[in-house]
Parts: sequence; C-alpha cells; structure tokens
Amino acid sequence: MQIIDGKYISNQIKQEIAQEVSNLAMQGKRPPRLAVIIVGHNGGSETYVANKMKACEQVGFVSTKIAFEEDVTEQQLLEQIQVLNENPQIDGFIVQLPLPPHIDEHKVMEAIDYHKDVDGLHPVNIGKAVLGLPCIHSATPSGILELLFRYGIETKGKHVVVIGRSNIVGKPVANLLIQKDFLGNATVTICHSYTQNLREICLSADIIIVAVGHPHFLTAEMVREGAVVIDVGITRIADATKKNGYRVSGDVDFDNVAPKCSYITPVPGGVGPMTIAMLLRNTLHAYKQNQK
Ligand code: GUN
Repeated sequence: MQIIDGKYISNQIKQEIAQEVSNLAMQGKRPPRLAVIIVGHNGGSETYVANKMKACEQVGFVSTKIAFEEDVTEQQLLEQIQVLNENPQIDGFIVQLPLPPHIDEHKVMEAIDYHKDVDGLHPVNIGKAVLGLPCIHSATPSGILELLFRYGIETKGKHVVVIGRSNIVGKPVANLLIQKDFLGNATVTICHSYTQNLREICLSADIIIVAVGHPHFLTAEMVREGAVVIDVGITRIADATKKNGYRVSGDVDFDNVAPKCSYITPVPGGVGPMTIAMLLRNTLHAYKQNQK
C-alpha cells in the first residue's frame, strides 16, 4: 500500500508556479492577482481562505481578501462581483462556499465573469468541461486527476466509482474521468444517497472517489484488494485533546481500508492541498489569458 502524498505533490506544483512567477518578474511583468470573497464566519471556510491567501504569498501572487458579514444582501454581493469583473488588475477571483441560505449560490456563480472564474464553477466553464472544450476546470476534481497522473495511476478503461454527486466534486470529477483524454477514458459510476447495492458497486471499482462529508463512510468491506481510494472528505470533529479543539476526518475508515489498497490518500494531506495548488494554477492560467 502506498500513501498518495498530496502535500508533497502540491508543494511540487507550487514550486513550478513560483518559478513561472519569478520568470515573469524578470521580464518586468506584474504578478498574478487573486481575490477571494468570504461571507460570514464559518470556521472551515475561514481556514480554507487563510490557506489560499498563504499559498498565494508562497508562489508570489498578490491576493486580496474581501470579507462580508453573514447579513450581506445578495445585491451587495453581486455588486462586489461586478467590481471585480471590471477590474483589469484582478486576474481571477472566487466566492468561498457555502453561502448563507438567503443568498442564491447559482446566481452568484453566474454573475462571475467566467474568464475570471478560477474555481471553474461558472455554468460556462462546467458546460465547456462537459463538451471537452478548453476551459477552467474546478480545482478539487483537477487536483484528484493530477494526483492520479503524478502517481502513474492509469484511468483508461478502469472502473471508477464516485460516491457523491455535488456540483463541486462528484459531478465534475466524473465528467473529467469520462472524457476522451489521456487522464480520462474511464468507465464511471456515480453513486449517491439513493443508490442501491452500493457495497457491490464499490467492490467492482478499480478506483473509488468518495466525497460525501460523512466521516468513515467508506468501510473495508466496500473495497476490493488492490483498489485505489481517493478521500475528498474534510469534516471537523470536536476533540478536546487538540489545541484548536477539533480534528479533521475524511470519508474513509482509513485504518481498516488502507491495508487493502494499492494507493490511498490520507486526510489531512491528500486531496485538500491539491485543491489550493490547482486554484493557483487556474489563476496563473487566467493571468496569461488576461495578458494576451
Ligand atoms: N468550499 C469548499 N470547497 C470549495 C472550493 O473549492 N471553492 C469554493 N469557492 N468554495 C469551496
């Protein structure tokens, strides 16, 4: 069994990006610039946003955080998005999800200029991704494919079972894996809360990607010997023994599943750091398009 070290790979990618940024500086060009909008004080979101800003600094990007209180109106948020759309100095920006229930997430995503949508969540980018056209791909799914690629894990002709059908992970990762592309060509089954015979379906998988947000959802009897397991879950669990009062759990019963796997991602240190690395890569891409 081999651990897929997302932290190591994400650091490699960050170094590659930092090198490009320093090459830009030598040519007298400005660095890429990312803005992040966050609403309210969701602890998880605040941590992710802080990590995204820190990563920008590490690679030499300029980053701007725009924070709103929980009671911001949808209109105020849409106006802020318009300002960022029109600012040529901003190459890309994201709105951290989830948003409070009084704000329509779809309306917010659609308001973003899709050229600046470095999260790859705008309907135009999602639609282009489905058609296999060049576009900005969402960060977590691209991070998963990048991990499989850098570990030499073949997807062509393999049976990939995706558990979870979210717009952020399940649907887009399944889409990438069915594309006629060297990182795709897989046979994909998408499972969700109404799926029957989940265990049998998982047992026929060469690769299982689980993104449901339920700690220890994937258990050992659902995984065949030699399978590859990718854990996208990040759930905070109260833990008084930890300095910050919580620990982070994935969707996989890691201790019992790992011995059966050929490869497995840990939590933390698996998919999570890759999401940030891919966000940086998308921002660099948007910058290059913006400079044309
Ligand atoms: N919330 C959890 N993951 C993500 C992500 O990748 N992008 C945004 N915008 N919000 C998230």
